[in-house]
Amino acid sequence: MQADLERVLIPRDAIARRVRELAEEIAATYGTDAAGLVMVPVLSGSLIFVADLMRCLPFKMRIAVLTVSSYRGATTSGGEARLVADLNTDIAGRHVLIVDDILDTGRTLRVVRQRLAALKPASLRICVLLRKPGKAPSDVQADFAGFDIEDAFVVGYGLDYNDQYRNWPEIGVLRPELYQ
Ligand code: IMP
Ligand code: MG
Repeated sequence: MQADLERVLIPRDAIARRVRELAEEIAATYGTDAAGLVMVPVLSGSLIFVADLMRCLPFKMRIAVLTVSSYRGATTSGGEARLVADLNTDIAGRHVLIVDDILDTGRTLRVVRQRLAALKPASLRICVLLRKPGKAPSDVQADFAGFDIEDAFVVGYGLDYNDQYRNWPEIGVLRPELYQ
C-alpha cells in the first residue's frame, strides 16, 4: 500500500492532534446544547475520522449514519451525489452535526444538508476533516474543518481511491500513474 503513495501529506500524529483540537472547538461551540447532539457521519469516507473524533467528545451523544454514493470517475470530482441509505434516527428538534471526510466541490454535502434540513433539526452544522480551498460554493461551507489542503487527490484515514486505501493511517497523495 505504501508503495502506491507519492508522499505523506499529513502524518498520523498531526491528524491525531488536530482531531483533538476539533473536538474542543465543537464542544465549545455547542456548549450546553451538546447534550443530545446527534452526529451524522457520511459513510464510508468519514468512518475513521468520526470514530476518533467522537471519542474525544466528553458528553453524551448519538450517532446516525447516512450513506451517500457519489458517481465520480476515478479521482475526479463532480459526480452526482445520491443517498443510498437514509437515517435510522429521528433528528427532529435535535442539534445535528454532519461529519464528512472532505469538502471538495460541495455536491455531496449539499445533498446531505438538504435531506437533513427537511427533517427539522434544531440546528445543522458541518464538520469535515479536509477541505480543498476555494472549490465549494458559498452555500455549502464547513463550520469545522481540520485541514485546508492543496488540490491533490489524497487517500488514507478513511479516504479512498476505488474503495481502497481507507485503512492507511496517514493522509497521503496517491501516485498519479495509478489514477485511471
Ligand atoms: P464533493 O461532493 O465534490 O465535495 O466530494 C466529496 C466526496 O468526494 C468526499 O466525501 C470523498 O468521498 C470524495 N473525494 C473528494 N476529493 C477526494 C480526495 O482527494 N480523495 C478521496 N476522496 C475524495
Ligand atoms: Mg470516496
